[in-house]
Amino acid sequence: MKQAEKVLSVRDVTKRFLGTVALKNVSIDLYENEILSVIGENGAGKSTLMKILSGIYPYSEYEGEILIEGERCKFQTPIDSESAGIAMIYQELNLEMDLTVAENILLGRLPLTKIGTIDWKTVRQTASEALHRLHANIDINVTVRSLSPSMQQLVCIARALVRKPKILILDEPTSVLTETETENLMEILNEFRKEKISCIYISHKLDEVFRISDRIAVLRDGELISTYTRQEGYDSRLVIEDMIGRELEVMYPKIDRVVGETILKVEHFKVPHPFAYGKNIIEDVSFELRKGEVLGLVGLVGSGRSELLNAIFGAIPKSSGKVFLNEVEVNINSPQTAKKAGFGLVTEDRKRNGFIGTMSVSHNMTLTILDFLRQFIFINKRKENHIAGEFFSKLRIKAPGLDTIITNLSGGNQQKVIIAKWLMTNLNIIFLDEPTRGIDVGTKADIYKLIHDLASKGISIIMVSSELPELLGVCDRFVVLGKGVVQAEFGREDATEITLLRAASNT
Ligand SMILES: Nc1ncnc2c1ncn2[C@@H]1O[C@H](COP(=O)(O)OP(=O)(O)OP(=O)(O)O)[C@@H](O)[C@H]1O
Ligand SMILES: [Mg+2]
Repeated sequence: MKQAEKVLSVRDVTKRFLGTVALKNVSIDLYENEILSVIGENGAGKSTLMKILSGIYPYSEYEGEILIEGERCKFQTPIDSESAGIAMIYQELNLEMDLTVAENILLGRLPLTKIGTIDWKTVRQTASEALHRLHANIDINVTVRSLSPSMQQLVCIARALVRKPKILILDEPTSVLTETETENLMEILNEFRKEKISCIYISHKLDEVFRISDRIAVLRDGELISTYTRQEGYDSRLVIEDMIGRELEVMYPKIDRVVGETILKVEHFKVPHPFAYGKNIIEDVSFELRKGEVLGLVGLVGSGRSELLNAIFGAIPKSSGKVFLNEVEVNINSPQTAKKAGFGLVTEDRKRNGFIGTMSVSHNMTLTILDFLRQFIFINKRKENHIAGEFFSKLRIKAPGLDTIITNLSGGNQQKVIIAKWLMTNLNIIFLDEPTRGIDVGTKADIYKLIHDLASKGISIIMVSSELPELLGVCDRFVVLGKGVVQAEFGREDATEITLLRAASNT
C-alpha cells in the first residue's frame, strides 16, 4: 500500500504564556485525506495549537517548527497561514454581525470588476455556491446578526470553503449545531476527505469524534499523550483516561433526593418570536417547579426553551404570563428584579452576556454575591478569595490563579467560571441553559455532581440541554415543549430518549 503523504507536520512546538506553558514539545503529523481529531480537557492546549497553525500566534512567539508538505512555514499573520492553504473555523465565531451573509463569506477577498468596483454578482454567486455545498438554506442578503448561532456557524464554514483550503481546522464546530446539522457536517467532512482536504477536528463530544476521525490525538496539560487510529479501534475508556489522567468513576450522580413543595408556578406564558416578527415562539406555557427539584426543559431547536427561560427571568419581554413564587405573584420585568426575587440564569451565549472580559476570575465569580462580601463599603478580599477558591478547585478550573484575567482562559474554563458565579449564590431557583456546552467530559461529571448537591440543599433548578442523555442523567422530571405549548410531562421513571424525542417532535 502506498504510504499516505504528510500534509502538515508540527515539530516540537512549545508555547508559553505568562505563567502557563500551554504546549510542551508537541509533535503531530497530518496526512492527506485524513480527519484528525485533537481532544483533551479544557485548557489542554488545543486552541493554542490551532492558533499557531492559523498564524494568530506568529512564529517568533513559540518554539518548534511547522511544515506544510515538507516546507518550513514561518507565519507572521493569519493571512500567511491562509495563503499556505490553512483555513480555520474558530471556537468563538468571528463574524461581522452587521454585514450580510454574502459579504461575510467573501470578507477579505471581495472580487473586483474591470473598473475596480466590487463585483457583487460574483460575490453573490460564490457565496450561494458555498452555502449550497453545505446544504444550507440561508438568505445571502440578510445581516449575520439576524441568523441563529447554528446558521452563523455554517456561514463561517462557507467562508473557509471559498478559500479552497488544503487543511481545514474546526475548533468545536458542533457546539452550536443541532443534531441534524451535526449529521450534515459529518457528511460534509466526509466529502471534503474525498476532495483531498485534510481536517483537524476539535470537539468535546466524544461520540462524534469516534465516528468521524481517522486518527485521534490526545493532549493533556499541553503534552501529546497518545494517538489512536481507526484501524486499531477506539476504546472510549482508554481515551478518556488519557484525557483526564485518572479514571472517571461515575458520569451521573445517583439521584436519591427528596423533592419538596411547589415553589415556582409559571402560568400562561406567551413570548414573541426572536426572528419572525408578529409570531410567538411560546404560545401558552404553564408549569410548576418544586423545591429541590431538577426539572429538564426538553424540546427541539426552535421550540423556545431558551426564550421561555429568558422571559421568566425578565431578560427578554413576554407578551403575557404570570410568575408565582411560593403562591405569591411576583412581577419580574428585568434580570435585576429576577435576581432580587432569588432567580439565577446561566446563559447559553457566554460571550454576549456571561462575563466581564477585563476582570479577573475571582471578580467574575463573585459578581453575584457582592452584597454578601461587602463590609461597610469595602469588599472583604479574604472572604472573596476563600469562596472563589473553593469553586476554583471544585470545578477544576485551569488557570494560573484567581487573579488571571478571564479572557486568557480557555473557552471551557471561561464557561466554568460563569457556572461557578451562579452556583455560589444563595439563590432559590437557578436556570441552566446548556451549562456543559464546550466542557470536557471530566468536568461535566463534576458539574452534574454540583447540580445534584444544590438540589439536595433545596435549590430548584431548570435545565435546558440539547444532550438528552445528560438531562436523563440529572433531572427528576421533564417538561416537553413543542409548537409553543407543553406537549407532555414525564417523571424520571417514564422518561427515555425515545419518549422525550417523540413528545418533542409530536409524533
Ligand atoms: N492569551 C492567553 N494568555 C494567557 N494564557 C492563555 C492564553 N490563551 C490560552 N492560555 C492558557 O493556555 C492553556 C491552553 O488553553 P487553550 O485555549 O489552548 O485550551 P483548549 O484545549 O482549547 O481548551 P477548551 O477545551 O476549554 O477550549 C490554558 O491554561 C489557558 O489558560
Ligand atoms: Mg479551545
